Order: sequence, then C-alpha cells, then structure tokens
Amino acid sequence: MKLLVLLLSILSLTNSQEYSFPDDFLFGVATASYQVEGAWNESDKGENIWDHITHVNPSFVIDESNGDYACDSFHRIAEDVQILKDIGVNFYRFSLSWSRILPTGHINYVSDVGVEYYNNLIDELIANDITPFVTIFHWDITPFVTIFHWDLPQPLLELGARVDYAAKVFELFGDRVKNWITFNEPYQICEQGYSIGDLAPGYTQQGIGGYLCGHTILLAHAQAYQRYYSEFSEQGGRVGLVVHGVWGEPETDSEEDAAAAEAFVQMFFGWFLHPIYSDDGDYPPIMKEQIDALSAEQNFPRSRFPTFTEAQIESLKGASDFLGLNHYGAYLCRAANENDSTVIPSHWHDSGVYCYLSDEWEASASDWFSVTPWGLRSILNWIKDAYGNPEVIVTENGFTTTTGDVVDCRRVNYYNTYLQYLLEAIYEDECNVTGYTAWSVMDNFEWQFGYTAKFGLYSVDFDDENRTRTPKMSSYVYKNIIETRQIDTTYTPDGFDSCDADAATALTISALLISISVGLHFIAHYF
Ligand SMILES: *[C@@H]1O[C@H](CO)[C@@H](O)[C@H](O)[C@H]1NC(C)=O
Ligand SMILES: *[C@@H]1O[C@H](CO)[C@@H](O)[C@H](O)[C@H]1NC(C)=O
Ligand SMILES: *[C@@H]1O[C@H](CO)[C@@H](O)[C@H](O)[C@H]1NC(C)=O
Ligand SMILES: *[C@@H]1O[C@H](CO)[C@@H](O)[C@H](O)[C@H]1NC(C)=O
Repeated sequence: MKLLVLLLSILSLTNSQEYSFPDDFLFGVATASYQVEGAWNESDKGENIWDHITHVNPSFVIDESNGDYACDSFHRIAEDVQILKDIGVNFYRFSLSWSRILPTGHINYVSDVGVEYYNNLIDELIANDITPFVTIFHWDITPFVTIFHWDLPQPLLELGARVDYAAKVFELFGDRVKNWITFNEPYQICEQGYSIGDLAPGYTQQGIGGYLCGHTILLAHAQAYQRYYSEFSEQGGRVGLVVHGVWGEPETDSEEDAAAAEAFVQMFFGWFLHPIYSDDGDYPPIMKEQIDALSAEQNFPRSRFPTFTEAQIESLKGASDFLGLNHYGAYLCRAANENDSTVIPSHWHDSGVYCYLSDEWEASASDWFSVTPWGLRSILNWIKDAYGNPEVIVTENGFTTTTGDVVDCRRVNYYNTYLQYLLEAIYEDECNVTGYTAWSVMDNFEWQFGYTAKFGLYSVDFDDENRTRTPKMSSYVYKNIIETRQIDTTYTPDGFDSCDADAATALTISALLISISVGLHFIAHYF
C-alpha cells in the first residue's frame, strides 16, 4: 500500500507539471476599500468603524498607522487599472465603502462623489476588459444597534439598513457589475470584531457576541440575495458569499484527532456554509449540540447560540450562486484537554478543539498562517464532499512578508505551490473551482497589523506622497501563469535572478531519493 502511494505521488509529481488551467478558468487580484483607498474624509464621506477606532485609539494597530491615506487608490484609478492590465487579470475584486456611498449609513442620502468614484473605477475596468467583482461589505458590518462598525458609517445601522444599502448598490452599479459578493469573511467580522476584539469594533463578548453577529450576517445575506432576485434579476448577474476557510489537519492519525479536526472545520467554516449549502439547511448539528449543551451546563437560561425559524432556514438554503473561498493555510488540530487555556465561554471552548501552526511549516510574516499548500486541496475536497461540489471561486490567497522587497522568492514559491495543488484538486479530484484571486495586488493597510505585513504583488512606497507602485517578481510570475495557464517553477522574469533554482533542485533530488527508496523497498520486498 505504502509502495503504491509512493509510486502514485512520484507519478503525480511528474504528471502535475503538465496540467493547464481550463480555458474558462478566471484569474484575478483583490483589494478592499479601507485597505487601499485612503481619502478617508474626501468630500462628504462618512466615518466608518476603522476611521473611528484608528483615530480614537491609535494603538489598536501595531504600528499606530491607519488607512487615512493608505495607497491613495481613490485618486489613482488609471494607474491602478493599468497595473491590473499589466498583470493580465480577468477580474478585479474590490469592495465598496459603505460610508463613502451612504455617508449617514442610510439610503436617504447618497454621496455623488462616492458614487462617481465607483462609476469611474467600474468604467475604467470595463474599458480595459477587466471584469469588476464587487464585495458589498468587506468586514464592514453592523450586527447590532451600536455606534462602532467595521469600515462602515458610525451612525446606527440595523439589518434593514444593510439590505437597503445592498439594494442601492445593485441599483447604482448593477447595469455593469454582474459578480457580487454580499459579505466578506463573516467569521472574522464576528469572532474577531465582536468576541475576541482584535478587529474593529473591538468588542469582547466571547461565546455570545460572535454568534449573534454571525446570525445577523447570514440573515442579511439571505435578504440581500433575495432582493437581487426579486428586483434586479433582469441585470443577469450573480450573488455569492465569501467565507474564510482554514483547513484543520488532524495532529495524528488517531480517530480522536480526526474527529477534532472535523469539528474544527464544521464549527469555524461550516458555521456559515451549512445553512446555505447543506440539504437540511440550518447550522451544523455539532455546533448546535455542543453550544446548547455547554450553555446549559454554564447556567445560561437559554442557549448562547441563536436559532433560525423554519422560514429563515428555508430562505438561506441555496442562497448563494457561488462559494467564495478565502484560504491562506492550515492548522494541526486535536481534542482540547484541561491544560489548554481557553476563555470560558468562547467559540474555541465550545468547539472542544485545540489547533495550532506546526513549527515544521514555513512561517509567513503573519502569526495566523503558515505555508501549507496541500491544505488548499484538502479544504476544496471537504467542500466537495460535504456540499455536493458547488462552484467555488478562490477569492483570496496570498503570502505576507515584513518588507516590500521586489525580489520575493518566497511569495513566488507560495503561489506556484498553492496553484499546483489547486490544479490537482481540479483535475485529480474534480473539485468545481472556476476562479482564483491573489491577495493582494499591492501592499496595503493590513488592519491591526498596519503596514507591517505586506501581501502585495506590487510594493508601494508609503513614504512617497505619490505612493509609487513597483512590480515585484511575483507579479511577473503570476502574469506568466495567467498567460501560459501553466505553472513553470523555473520561470524567471527578465531582470531577475532565478530564485527557484535551489528549490527546483531540491524537488528533483527528493523525487530521486524517493525513487531510490521505493526501488530498494521493492527489491527488499520481492527478492
Ligand atoms: C482630512 O483629514 C486630514 C488628516 O488625515 C486633515 O489634515 C484634513 O484637514 C481633513 N480634511 C477635512 C476637509 O476635514
Ligand atoms: C496536563 O498537565 C499536567 C501537568 O503538566 C500533566 O501531568 C497532564 O498529563 C496534562 N494533561 C494532558 C491531557 O496532557
Ligand atoms: C459546478 O457548479 C455549477 C454551479 O453550481 C454546476 O452547474 C456544475 O454542474 C458543477 N460542476 C460539477 C462538475 O459538479
Ligand atoms: C508626485 O507626482 C506629481 C505629479 O506627477 C509630481 O509633480 C511630483 O513631483 C511627485 N512627487 C514626488 C515626491 O515624486
């Protein structure tokens, strides 16, 4: 059996070089409004939760920076679209700033300047044959009646206001925008914004806040989706949801660890997918059971986990035309034990799982992910098996460094290896993936990490008033992949020294060593 696996892996190592991305497979790059636009107080723009928290509490961000000026993309449409054209992407995934379009948060007042900016951006993209792929709420949500919101206007906004806003942008831009995302990353908005508190609005209500927030987001998503089909279906577009999925790899091959890893994926990822993609609808059963039971044990008069009505369950079923997957890396998972310190109650405690990054994995400049390209293939297979192979678009994937160096071999390696596993998921596992998005086109404001973690294919000089952009090696490698539709780990762009020589040699040597060891194994076994 081992022999077979080894032989197959050698076969796939050699074969895999030949896979080409399907002709209709689409490539893009992504940004989000607060991270790149700047112009925080341009004209009549309203204040959003990130404007607010960075101004009143600068130390909320590691380097005490903010997005006031960011990449100044608000004033650089032509320059940015030229960059997209140079890379050769099919689409550009960007987000709308709610407070720029609706300064009061309500549709009673629409900013002409805000609308004009997005009209200009959309028109410039289309004039250059680049499809706009638009996120309506990029972490900018108002789950409750509060005054702080995540990149959205300060004044109070409830679920209805969010749905009104979504309908307003369908009306304003839907003649040209055919690919819509309602919410980006509900888990991060909710757990980090309302439970753990390391993202704006910075609330710390573990085990409660995130669940209510997630509930409201799912309902708002379903309502926005239905609004699209009841009022704007003649626009002929499609509407999806983007969920961040971390793959959970069992720490060992024990049954307990397998169950823990599965519980992790169900409770951190399935939380937002099961209501939409499973046949039964509603939240994952394991999530309801565990949170209900722990709530009772903890003397809560009712479960900390909200429940949907039957009508709501029905309204969520199938309410997404594609699944947007943001994926960066994997965790190792095992069942939590008494020595794992967790806040009680909390989502982590409710999950009963302990997960971490292995020291053996190549670290990124972000403490929350390492380089685990096989995890992308695993999570795509999980989606396929759990939900009947829905259409998936990878809406974010990328690598952080601490500096904006243009020779970024580790980022090149990241894209090459992740895309290789993506090809295998498509061709060997028949996962239904139709597009891929690199995060991000340029270095930008990385939320609580400010400008200390850089994801860009282009570097940005943040000391220069013009925020000069310079292509990194990875941008040329990505361009080459889009053009040739293949991964060539030996490709070296003009003007750069080869950086994958060592890695390519190592791969060849390891393949050789495996062949030798297989050969010896074979000889030992049969003679
Ligand atoms: C906008 O904010 C900047 C600081 O980021 C400040 O210098 C400027 O005066 C503000 N402009 C207006 C019109 O308030
Ligand atoms: C918890 O820590 C104690 C003290 O170090 C140790 O004896 C015990 O085995 C640990 N329990 C588990 C489940 O690892
Ligand atoms: C991929 O998803 C689309 C949209 O849901 C569906 O029509 C198609 O049949 C799926 N393809 C496969 C191979 O399952
Ligand atoms: C920024 O761009 C403007 C317009 O092209 C130019 O006049 C100015 O000198 C530039 N500033 C710097 C610091 O390069």
